[in-house]
Amino acid sequence: MNTADTRGRFITVEGTEGVGKTSNLDFIERLLHEAGKAVVRTREPGGTALGERLRTILLDAREDGIDHDAELLLMFAARAQHLAEVIRPALDAGKWVLCDRFTDATYAYQGGGRGIPAARIAVLEQWVQGELRPDLTLLLDLPVDRGLARAGQRSAPDRFEREQAEFFERVRQVYLERARREPARFRIIDASPPLPEVQAQIRQALEAFLAS
Ligand SMILES: Nc1ncnc2c1ncn2[C@@H]1O[C@H](COP(=O)(O)OP(=O)(O)OP(=O)(O)O)[C@@H](O)[C@H]1O
Ligand SMILES: [Mg+2]
Repeated sequence: MNTADTRGRFITVEGTEGVGKTSNLDFIERLLHEAGKAVVRTREPGGTALGERLRTILLDAREDGIDHDAELLLMFAARAQHLAEVIRPALDAGKWVLCDRFTDATYAYQGGGRGIPAARIAVLEQWVQGELRPDLTLLLDLPVDRGLARAGQRSAPDRFEREQAEFFERVRQVYLERARREPARFRIIDASPPLPEVQAQIRQALEAFLAS
């Protein structure tokens, strides 16, 4: 068996605010366990001690003066640490990594939302990740207002949740465009029905991936 066979797989969950990413992670983790996989579950920004500290700054609604490039670089600083400390070692050890948001979120939020050119993000992606990309990305898609309504019932708005609906509309469109461009990696999940129906779609997508 060569290295490619024993390497774990990298699965990311993406979508705009409140679509149900975090709510579905337990379910996804359970399916992977049932399939006999060792799973490392993590999130971005975050996943390491340094990354979680950067996350606190990035999501802090009082941090209203963060420059767009500074925000982008902090995201990738957290990601560099996450890759070095958690993601690469886990994949090398044959574990499956399940991550709540990854670089697609940077293209969507810092690119689509903030307006930073995708080419500039791509430079950092190549620098920090090399050739590493997710093997499977589940994009939970939901009209922006419905996601914000779900998120709003949960807690006080963070630094991103304070943005206007047009910001999230741009975020959603970038996600959908990326999914259209990379159909082999993305599965679009309709996040609008009740949780059991969303989970049925996720199960189907994962079973197809596991069989591939
Ligand atoms: N299919 C669903 N139908 C109705 N409510 C849902 C559904 N999925 C999740 N929720 C609820 O919506 C809220 C937001 O869900 P969750 O925190 O999982 O979203 P998220 O995508 O992780 O959000 P964020 O982008 O802020 O991290 C929670 O209160 C959750 O219980
Ligand atoms: Mg979440």
